[in-house]
Amino acid sequence: MNTTLDKKLDVYKIREDFPVLKVKVNNKDLVYFDNAATSQKPKVVIDSIVNYYQEYNSNVHRTGHYLGTKASIEYENSRQKVAQFINAKSNEIIFTSNATESINLVAYSWGKENILENDEIIVSIAEHHSNFIPWQQLAKEKKAKFKVINITQDYELDLEHYKKLISEKTKIVAITMMSNVLGTITPIKEIVNIAHNYNAKVIVDASQSAPQMKIDVKDLNCDFLVFTGHKICAPTGIGILYAKEEILNDMKPFLYGGGMITTVNINDSEWEKPPQRFEAGTPKIAQAIALGKAIDYINSIGIDNIRDYEKEINSYLINKLLEIENLKIIGPTDINKRGSAISIFVNKIHSHDLGTILDEFGIAVRVGHHCAIPLHNYLKIPHTLRISTYFYNTKEEIDYFIKSLNKAINMFRKFL
Ligand code: ALA
Repeated sequence: MNTTLDKKLDVYKIREDFPVLKVKVNNKDLVYFDNAATSQKPKVVIDSIVNYYQEYNSNVHRTGHYLGTKASIEYENSRQKVAQFINAKSNEIIFTSNATESINLVAYSWGKENILENDEIIVSIAEHHSNFIPWQQLAKEKKAKFKVINITQDYELDLEHYKKLISEKTKIVAITMMSNVLGTITPIKEIVNIAHNYNAKVIVDASQSAPQMKIDVKDLNCDFLVFTGHKICAPTGIGILYAKEEILNDMKPFLYGGGMITTVNINDSEWEKPPQRFEAGTPKIAQAIALGKAIDYINSIGIDNIRDYEKEINSYLINKLLEIENLKIIGPTDINKRGSAISIFVNKIHSHDLGTILDEFGIAVRVGHHCAIPLHNYLKIPHTLRISTYFYNTKEEIDYFIKSLNKAINMFRKFL
């Protein structure tokens, strides 16, 4: 089945780039709909890891020999690619292990210095645990107030509630750009404008949005932004932290060790400038280089083409889901307000049971609370089944999924 975007994005050609898509599961073609958990990797990215280890494996920023120089150049090129991808400067990009580590880095390094007793930290109820717990624990430690923005009945961030919560005492607002459960896109620019009126900083979790939407940190004017590599076709073990240069310059190190100092004496030490100040120890060299290749690959397809394609196939999916009786989409149904993580709840049927049957049909989805227990508690829904596509998924796969989901639901309805 063709899509109207065929000329811009040839999904069948793209699929050839992803070796894992040829895998059979239970003798069925794999249908991989768990991209919000992690994306698949194109061969160019896989090859770049092998190539690093086979051709120029060496440490970075420590040696002047051929291999070390090549590895250092590739590593720094990758930083530049990440910077360009989100319209930042290279020295504003820190390589970390994942988005979780990036957020913890900010909570420890910036948070411990800047949050004092009675200050306020604001998060939203839709945060992934990684952008919830570090702030909750920092608030506890500092005896600061931890405030949580609600979502509306339409699963959007409740801006009026946010405006009521924020005050002169608010020091940081930690917010997702796209919920990993609801799919909701949040109005980051407006959130940042409001926060800056109160001199509060904003940290944006772009883990779900970076793989499928153009991000421009200058335009958003956020103070910090994080995302993980493995959801954007890169390997696991690599994430990034963006922070405005002037903020990074004032931040103390998160980890101490090699590579982050200018001098070490018996009594004290002095720190390198960012980004090196925040990359103690041998960094994630192969992973960082592979992240650069993943960004090249995404750029070759075009992030706007990816967003358009995702909108097209997910509108198709949402319309099919809306036809199923007793099935609720836990998130906005307007495609312009959401990304591709679509969570559903089928009345009286456990999401885990549906997930198990779908797996027998060769379909990979995620079931449970998706590392967002506060959100599920708020919605009074114990679990959801999440379908999350990426640009290599097809409408035929969606048809097969809908047929299989209906079969699974009917199997359980017999016992109701
Ligand atoms: N954060 C990933 C998810 O939502 C793991 O599934």
